[in-house]
Amino acid sequence: MTRLHVVSAATRPTSSGRPLAQWVTEQVRERGGFEVTAVDLAEIALPFLDEPEYASTGNYAHQHTRDWSALVDSADAFLFVLPMYNGGFTAPFKNAIDFLYNEWKGKPVGIVSYSGGPTGGARRPRCCCRCSPGSACCPPRAPSRSRGSRS
Ligand SMILES: Cc1cc2nc3c(=O)[nH]c(=O)nc-3n(C[C@H](O)[C@H](O)[C@H](O)COP(=O)(O)O)c2cc1C
Repeated sequence: MTRLHVVSAATRPTSSGRPLAQWVTEQVRERGGFEVTAVDLAEIALPFLDEPEYASTGNYAHQHTRDWSALVDSADAFLFVLPMYNGGFTAPFKNAIDFLYNEWKGKPVGIVSYSGGPTGGARRPRCCCRCSPGSACCPPRAPSRSRGSRS
């Protein structure tokens, strides 16, 4: 069975996205067909990237990186739940991406985005696609749906 990790990118203690990520996880579990793992970046609590070598080498000096590597490596696909901060995704999310390379590579990605504004963060998927390692981990083109948005 395809192993899907639902990754919540919000780390604020009062995040409105955490219940959303839980709801998304439940929806996917109910749908079936995936072995679903909920991943909360607030709980993972990575420091800012502190590895001396490039992620592409796979030579990790720190246990937190080896743990994160094992978790990401164990997924076949990802569903990112992303809030929009200042027109982009969150810094902890980009940091978590930057820690690794081959563990992401070639794996399909879906995105649920949200924001306080009318677009619901609908522009974030393109932004996320650009930062994906080797551009090999990339969301498919799909219509965005957001409350109060014309798109
Ligand atoms: C640092 C920060 C920057 C934000 N920037 C935007 C923004 O550019 N556009 C927008 O529509 N909402 C913006 N928001 C609102 C958030 O997208 C919205 O409140 C979202 O629900 C926050 O998610 P969270 O509660 O999981 O952190 C911002 C919120 C924060 C905390």
